[in-house]
Amino acid sequence: MKLFVYHTPELTPLEKLPDCAVVIDVLRATTTIAAALDAGAEAVQAFSDIDLLLKTSEAWLPKKRLRAGERGGEKVEGCDLGNSPLNFTTEVVTGKRLFMTTTNGTRALERVAQSPTVITAAQVNCQAAVNYLLETQPKTVWLVGSGWQGSYAIEDTACAGAIALSLIEQAKLSLEEITGNDEVVGAIALYSQWKNNLVEMFRLASHGQRLLKLGCDDDLKYCAENNILDVLPIQKEPGVLVKL
Ligand code: MLT
Repeated sequence: MKLFVYHTPELTPLEKLPDCAVVIDVLRATTTIAAALDAGAEAVQAFSDIDLLLKTSEAWLPKKRLRAGERGGEKVEGCDLGNSPLNFTTEVVTGKRLFMTTTNGTRALERVAQSPTVITAAQVNCQAAVNYLLETQPKTVWLVGSGWQGSYAIEDTACAGAIALSLIEQAKLSLEEITGNDEVVGAIALYSQWKNNLVEMFRLASHGQRLLKLGCDDDLKYCAENNILDVLPIQKEPGVLVKL
């Protein structure tokens, strides 16, 4: 298995695809996707375009759907929910399809949607992603960070590092065997430095700062929890994620 880390959708190659793409948006889209599927949502259907989301979701009965929209960290007017994982509870989401658009995470999903396998990961469920990779042994794995509007986001790359480090430890592989690009080595170093204090790293991160200004410190704490969810979101058709 060779791992490649790409910090943002924009840095992710267009001319080829991996056997498995792991999309990461720790703050907060892939944390929210894990929380929603764990809480019993039927599926999460991701859109980068809000108008397409509204049009597609119209075909669903209102009691069977929820619209979740976020731009700049804030809830999009007219949507049922924003992007706080804390709001995606069993009472709210059970049996419903979530139609979701976020500033960066849903764009990252779109970028790799044609890959044979697409899964999502965040700190809250990264062991589930590691288990899946160990079981299925894809030859090439891309760990794709969502970043922020084309720029690097430290928390996504740290999560990629957490996944890479666990794979090395659990499969007893060397760094040399698993490393596909330099970013993998950088991601592992980043995670190793902060792994015991992820929430402080999130508070330092530019998007963490943005969320703090919006009063979302509880979201940061939740997103920094390691492996509290045993759920693996996997793409069943382009843009549609279900619980494996
Ligand atoms: C995104 O997709 O950029 C994020 O998930 C933003 C957020 O924190 O809601």
